[in-house]
Formats: sequence, C-alpha cells, structure tokens
Amino acid sequence: MLLSQLNLHHFRNIANASLQPARGINLLTGNNGSGKTSLLEAIHCLGYGRSFRSHRASRIIRHGESAYVLFGRLSDEDAATELAIGMERSRSGVSQLKIGGQSADSLAALARLLPVQLIDPQGGELLSGGPKLRRSFIDWGVFYQDNSFHPLWKQFSRLLKQRNAQLKQSRGYQALGFWDQELTRISEEIAEKRAEYCEGFFSQAVDFIGFFLPEYEVSLDYYQGWDHEKSLGELLQANFERDRVLGYTSTGAHKADLRLKANGVPVCDILSRGQLKLMVCAMRLAQGCYLSAQGDKKVIFLIDDFASELDSEKRHLLMERLQQSDSQIFVTAIDLDHLDPELVARADKMFHVEHGRISEISRSVRASDEC
Ligand SMILES: Nc1ncnc2c1ncn2[C@@H]1O[C@H](COP(=O)(O)OP(=O)(O)OP(=O)(O)O)[C@@H](O)[C@H]1O
Ligand SMILES: [Mg+2]
Repeated sequence: MLLSQLNLHHFRNIANASLQPARGINLLTGNNGSGKTSLLEAIHCLGYGRSFRSHRASRIIRHGESAYVLFGRLSDEDAATELAIGMERSRSGVSQLKIGGQSADSLAALARLLPVQLIDPQGGELLSGGPKLRRSFIDWGVFYQDNSFHPLWKQFSRLLKQRNAQLKQSRGYQALGFWDQELTRISEEIAEKRAEYCEGFFSQAVDFIGFFLPEYEVSLDYYQGWDHEKSLGELLQANFERDRVLGYTSTGAHKADLRLKANGVPVCDILSRGQLKLMVCAMRLAQGCYLSAQGDKKVIFLIDDFASELDSEKRHLLMERLQQSDSQIFVTAIDLDHLDPELVARADKMFHVEHGRISEISRSVRASDEC
C-alpha cells in the first residue's frame, strides 16, 4: 500500500503539517534545520514503530508539548481500498496505535502495513558498526517473509533475559539445563528462518551491489551466532563458566551476523567511506525490491540527504534503480541543484520545508523556476 495522506502534529519542529504524497517520487527541499529529516522520521515511526534518530519519544515530541500524533492514510494502487493508521506518543510513555479506526496493540501490526527502507548519510554504519545493525537488517526481511518470526523472536528474547538472570545466581550448570533446552530449540528455529531468507535474498543483494560497485567481487555470508558444526546445547554448557563471569550468554541466535567481503577481504578493510555507503544503498534497495518481488507488499523508500558523498554518476545510478523499483519514494535535499536532474524532471510531487512548515510546490512554479 502507498501513503496517500500524512498528518503530523507536534513532531520535532513540525507543529502541524498535512500532505498528500504522490505514489511515485516525492522531493522535499529546504534549508538546514527546516524539518526534512523530521518528516522522513515521522514516516519511519509509522512504518517501523520507532525513529532512526532516537529511542526516546520525549526527544521527538515538539519542545513544550506533551505528545506527538501521526496519522496516515494508506491506499492501494488504484485507491480502491483505503486504511487509516495513527500513532500517538506522550512524554509520560503512553502510546496509542490505531488501524482502521480500531485500537491496535502491537507495532508489528502497523509495520506489516507500511514497510519502509531508509537510505541516509549514516548508512555506512550498517557495515562499519556492530553486528546488531546487521541482525536488524536481516530480521527486517525475515519479519515480512515469515509471520511466525516475530513472536518467536519475542519468546527468544524473554528466555534469554531469564537465562542471563539465572546465570548470575547459579553456582553450577544444573540449574540452567531447562533454559538451555528451550534456548537451543528456539535459536535453531530462528537460525533456520534467517538462513532461508538469506538464501533467497543474497543473490538479489549481489546483483544490486554489482550494479553500483562493478569493480569488486562481493560475497555475503550469514553467521547464525554459533559454529554450525557444533550443537548449541553443548556449546552453552561448555561456555557456562565463561558466561557466568561475563554475566551474559555469549552464543545463540542473538549473536548472528552478516559478513560481507569484497574481493575476499572484509568490506570495511577495503572499501572507501563513499563505497561503503553505496554498498548499503544497494543492500537496502535490494531488500526493498526483494520484498516487493515476493508478494503484494510495496516498500516506501526514504532517501535522506540524497547528495551526500555520492558522485554524480552514482547518484544517477541510484536514481535509475529507484525508478525501476516502481515504489513510493521520498527524497530530501537542501535544494534541487543537489539532485540528479533526471530525478527532478521525473518527480511526481515537490514539497518545500521551511521552519517546520511544509508546502507543496505546484507544477507551474516549478516550470517557471526551470525557465
Ligand atoms: N523535539 C523537538 N522539538 C522542536 N524542535 C526540534 C526537536 N528536535 C529537533 N528539533 C529541531 O528540528 C529542526 C529540524 O531538524 P531536521 O533534522 O528535520 O532538519 P533538516 O531539514 O533535515 O536539516 P538538515 O538539512 O541539516 O539535515 C532542527 O532545527 C532541530 O533543532
Ligand atoms: Mg536532515
């Protein structure tokens, strides 16, 4: 589904805004600090359940206000079906979610309706940062591919917490035997679902990465969180003393990672910062397109600060792939000169952001500017 209406209330520096995005390319321009990233952040909150900049609602709620409210209307391609979604978060920690006018109790339900992929200047962290980011990356795809993954992951997280608490108290391994049987069973199930996803997705990822970085031979490898030739149950028992000292469980599905190499070398040791960023662009595009190709779900791409660190040829390549994805796209830039001219020419709608106010730029104004 597409986002055909978006209303923001007390979100960052945006007091109130209402816009009707186009189904294709939406450009957002405005000076530093005007509110462009905030707008993408709002869409991300609706579709991902949380911001990409802060985990705390109090940071996002407009200064001096008590809550932010987001409202979206989702429509299918021909606008025959519409669904209203909403989210409210207060400083006191209370959140309310609504889907089709009814209260919804989980962010996952909202996320299923609105898959979003963010490509932003911090993107390179996916490859240069810790494994948690790469696990979330894989899990995003598994979440949409397999409905049973999310409840399984929640069950696993609860169990792991209990095991870690038990680990600190126990003197001998005996007390952990029960937790470990369950932890092993669920870890294996999670690992299998992730592996299944990676098996399908990796060829798409290699294809997209090859498009942006044709000079490298890239390989992706999924690490399940423990040596796959060993039994997790036995490893948990063997690592007991070490884990007890550490105070946490050092093997299992929560340690999974994605390992990427270019010409046989870990990507962070061989690629430049701009190339790492390009690679992340390719991976996120590939993941969005892979999801669309699997079924009826369309991904919304949020591209923040389009120009940053990409040369004009690469910007053009990114634009081409975005266009081919036939997705709804939101692109921000300080001004139109920072964007690929073809992207500007093909934009379906343009919005100008100024001090938190968002206004649509009509076609006639655009045409006279271009003259
Ligand atoms: N909770 C908040 N309440 C009010 N204003 C806020 C809040 N949090 C951040 N801001 C302000 O919102 C403004 C918009 O920030 P945003 O990151 O969206 O700007 P931007 O248009 O993306 O800028 P840039 O081009 O520099 O990336 C900033 O001036 C920031 O200080
Ligand atoms: Mg910004």
